[in-house]
Parts: sequence; C-alpha cells; structure tokens
Amino acid sequence: MAEEGTKRRGGAGEERGLTLRLFFAIELPDELRAAVAVHAARLRRKFPDARAGWTRIESLHLTLKFLGEVEAAIHVDALYQAAETAAAGVAPFTLTVEGAGTFPPHGAARVLWLGVRDDDGQLARLHFRLDRECGHAGFPLESKPFKPHLTLARLRSPQGAKALSEAHRRAPFGPFHFDVSELVLMRSDLGPGGSRYTPLSRRRL
Ligand code: 2AM
Repeated sequence: MAEEGTKRRGGAGEERGLTLRLFFAIELPDELRAAVAVHAARLRRKFPDARAGWTRIESLHLTLKFLGEVEAAIHVDALYQAAETAAAGVAPFTLTVEGAGTFPPHGAARVLWLGVRDDDGQLARLHFRLDRECGHAGFPLESKPFKPHLTLARLRSPQGAKALSEAHRRAPFGPFHFDVSELVLMRSDLGPGGSRYTPLSRRRL
C-alpha cells in the first residue's frame, strides 16, 4: 500500500510506480526558527480570527527548487546526482534573513514571508547550478526569477487578512545571519494539519 502523501498513478493501460512530492531546500538553524516562532506567535495573538495556515516551526525551510510529484524509481537517483554536481561547485556561504513581505506583490496578500538576503550571490549560484542539473535530469527549468524567502503563512480567506498582512509587513525581523553548508532533497507529505517534510538526502557544499 502506498504511504501517506504518495500516490500510484496510472490507468488506461498505464501502470505507474510510486510517486513522491519532492523539493530541494536549505534547512534553518534552531535559533532562527525560534526567532520566527516569536514573530508568528505575536501575529497570531494579535489576529486570532484571521484564517491562515501557519508553517509548522519545525518545518520552516528555504525552498531552492520545487520538483512536484516525481516517479521515485525513475528520477530519485538522477536527483541525488544533480544535487551532488550542483553542490560540488559551491563553497559554504552565509545568508541573512531580514524583513517581512507578502505575495503577490500587489492586491490581496496570500502568502506571508520573511526575506532572505544573499549578499555574496552564492545562493543564486547554487540555485542556478541546481536548476541546470535538474534540467539535465529532465525537469523543467524555472520560468520565474528566483526570489528566496521563508514562507510563514498562507492566508485562507480575506477575513482579517488585510490587518494581519499589514502588521506582518510592518513588524521588523532580523537581520539574522546563518551559515549554509548543505543542500537537502526533501520529501513533502500533504496532510490535514499542513505539510510534513522529511529529508531524503543531504549534500555538503
Ligand atoms: P514556498 O512555500 O516556500 O514558496 C514544499 O512544498 C515547498 O515547495 C514549499 O515550501 C513551497 O515553497 C514550494 N512549492 C510548493 N508548491 C510549489 C509550486 N507549485 N511551485 C513552486 N514551488 C512550490
């Protein structure tokens, strides 16, 4: 039987194997998660009626590249290889988390995020290399510019959303510096209380 969050697709003569929802990410240090938890708790206390899905603090991460549902038997080894090649050309680096914003840039906010500053351009370099290697493995290249961020919450209804998103944007956050030395291939399992993430492999930079 397929595990939770995995699927067996197929039909009309097509038998497909186990699929996993995968993405590449950078994990965050506990102290940063704790600071984000304080920021989120303040907003949640102030706007208890706003309908938002808050990222579990232990799940907070920086997405580098989302791969979607991937047929495990066919693609996972190629993704391990892509990560190895991409990571081999980038030295460990420092990122800064600072400032708060919302997506989309105009109109009603749907996502609350914290900003990620890549002062040395090494995150962009890692993203470029990873995108290229995933492209070689048959995945589509990114069509939009990479905008690194930490997703804090997704707004589910307009109720209370404006006040919450304005307070979030006004609240200062950081600067919080942290070192990055690993690239992680992450599995995502969708569930009623939000997504759960499990690292499948780590590649050192
Ligand atoms: P984001 O919320 O940080 O923007 C795991 O689901 C991660 O992959 C999420 O944190 C999300 O990043 C990203 N993600 C999920 N669905 C996506 C999609 N359809 N396109 C791009 N990124 C996606």
